[in-house]
Amino acid sequence: MTPQESTADAAPLSMPLGAVVVLAAGQGTRMRSSTPKVLHELGGRSLLGHVLAAAAPLGAATTVVVVGAGREAVEGHLTAIAPDALPVLQAEQRGSGHAAMVALEAVPEVDGAVLLVNGDAPLLRAETVRALVSEHQRAGNVLTVLTAEVDDPTGLGRIVRDDDGGVRAIVEERDATDPQRRIREINAGVYVGDAAAMRRTLAQLSSDNDQGEQYVTDILGLLVAEGAPVGGVRADDPDDVLGCNDRRELAARRRTLNDRVLDALMVSGVTIVDPATTWVDVTATVAPDAVLEPGCHLRGTTTVEAGAVVGPDTTLLDTAVGAGASVVRAHCVGAVIGPDVSVGPFAYLRPGTRLGAGAKVGTFVETKNASIGDGSKVPHLTYVGDATIGRGTNIGAASVFVNYDGVAKHHTTIGDQARTGADNMFVAPVTVGDGAYTAAGSVITTDVPPGAMAVARARQRNVAGWVRRRRPGTPAARAAEAAEGRAEADGKGRTEALRADTEK
Ligand code: UD1
Ligand code: CA
Repeated sequence: MTPQESTADAAPLSMPLGAVVVLAAGQGTRMRSSTPKVLHELGGRSLLGHVLAAAAPLGAATTVVVVGAGREAVEGHLTAIAPDALPVLQAEQRGSGHAAMVALEAVPEVDGAVLLVNGDAPLLRAETVRALVSEHQRAGNVLTVLTAEVDDPTGLGRIVRDDDGGVRAIVEERDATDPQRRIREINAGVYVGDAAAMRRTLAQLSSDNDQGEQYVTDILGLLVAEGAPVGGVRADDPDDVLGCNDRRELAARRRTLNDRVLDALMVSGVTIVDPATTWVDVTATVAPDAVLEPGCHLRGTTTVEAGAVVGPDTTLLDTAVGAGASVVRAHCVGAVIGPDVSVGPFAYLRPGTRLGAGAKVGTFVETKNASIGDGSKVPHLTYVGDATIGRGTNIGAASVFVNYDGVAKHHTTIGDQARTGADNMFVAPVTVGDGAYTAAGSVITTDVPPGAMAVARARQRNVAGWVRRRRPGTPAARAAEAAEGRAEADGKGRTEALRADTEK
C-alpha cells in the first residue's frame, strides 16, 4: 500500500459514476515551460497522474482527458500511465467550460453522474472525491462542487452562498465585486454533475467575462436559475484543492505532498530522522521499523523492508531494499538489494544489480547487470558489469569486470567461495570456477578451473643497485645507501639484504 492510497477504501458508491472528465488542455502559461503544465512532476507522478489516481478508485467506466496544449506529449504520457483513458482534443483553448463540453460531446453515450476535475490539482485525494460524490448522490443534486475555506483565496473562483447557506454562484476573482473578493470559500475545480444537465448548461455558456472564455463554473449559476438542486461540499483538508499554476506553486505542492507521505510513513512506524531533507514518492513503500537517515530520496517503485537503514544521502529509484539491509551514501537505480546486505558508503548500483542475502558492495564500487550471491563481497574500488558471482566469494580491491570489447558486452561468471586478488581485470567472456583463487594484479583472459590459482602477470625482476648508479646523490640513493649500511652493520651482506627485499 502506498501512503497516498491507504485511506481510499470507503464504502462503494450507491451509483457508479458515468464518467470522469479531466480538463488538461490549458496552456499553463504561468509555468513558463515547454512542457505542458499537467506533465510537470511531483512525488513520482505528473499533475495529471495524481488527478487520475484520485479518481481511479471510483471505478468510472469511462475516463476522458481533454488535451490541447502540448497534446502529443500529454497523449503519449496517457498511453503510459492510463491506457484506458480517452484523450479528446480541444483544438482551441476557449475556456474550461468549452473543454468540458468538447469532452461530453465525445462520449454521447455517457449518462448519470460525471466527475469533472481540473488537471492541475495534484493534492486531491480519493477520499475527498468520494465524499463529494457521495454527498451529491445523497442530496439528489444535479451539480455539486468541491469547495474549501482558504487563508489566501487570491486568483481563485469564489463560492457565493445565499442567506440559507445554499450555493448560488461561482465568481472568478477577476469578475468579482469587492465584497465577493473577501469571500474565503473557493472553488476547487472539482465538480460532480448529472450528464444531461451538464450538457444542457454547457451549451448555453457565454464568454462574456474578463477573459473572454467559457467558464465551466457558470453552469452552477445556470442550474440555480433553473431551480435545480445544487450543492457544495467543503474539503476536510483545504490542501486537497490547491491548484498548481506556476513553479512556486509546484514547489509548494511538492512539499505538502511529501509532508503527507512522510507523515503517513511515520504514523505507520518508519523512523525519518530529518523530514526536511527526505523525499519519498507516493509510489514508494517503506515498512515499519525501517530508518531513513537525512538526505534520502526514495523514488518510483522503490520498496524498503523492515529494519533496513537507508542513508544518509542516498537516492533509490525503482530499487528494492531487503530487511535489515544498510545502504549508505549510495545511488541505486533498478537494483534488488537482499536482506542484511551492506551497500556503500559511496556505491552506484545500476539496473540489473541483484545482491543476495548478506552480500556487501562497498566503497567506490559500481555494479550493473550483476548478480552477486549470498554472502559475497565486493568491498572496494571495483566495477562489476555483466557478471554473475556465486556465494561466499570475495572480490579483491580495485578490480574491473572488463565487459565491453568496443562493440559488444560480454559476461563474466565467478563461482562460489572464490577469492580473487586485488587489482584483477576479468576480460569477458571468462569464468572463474568454484573455490578458485587469482593472484593480485592478474589480467584474467582464460577460464580458471575450480580450485586453481591463476597467476596472470609479469614475473618481478629487481635490478640491484640501479638507484645508486642511475640516480646518484638523490634522496632515494641516500636512503638506499643508508639501508645498505645498516644491513652491513647487522652482519648481512648487501646481496643478502637485497634478496630479503625481493622475496617478500
Ligand atoms: C479554475 C476555476 C476557478 C477555480 C480554480 C481552482 C474556471 C473558470 N475557474 O481557475 O474557479 O478556483 O480553477 O484551481 O474554471 N482548461 C482546458 N481548456 C481551456 C481552459 C482550461 O482544458 O480552454 C483546463 C486547464 O488545463 C485546467 C482547468 O481547465 O486544468 C482550469 O483552467 P485554469 O486556467 O487553470 O483555471 P484557473 O484560473 O486556475
Ligand atoms: Ca488552475
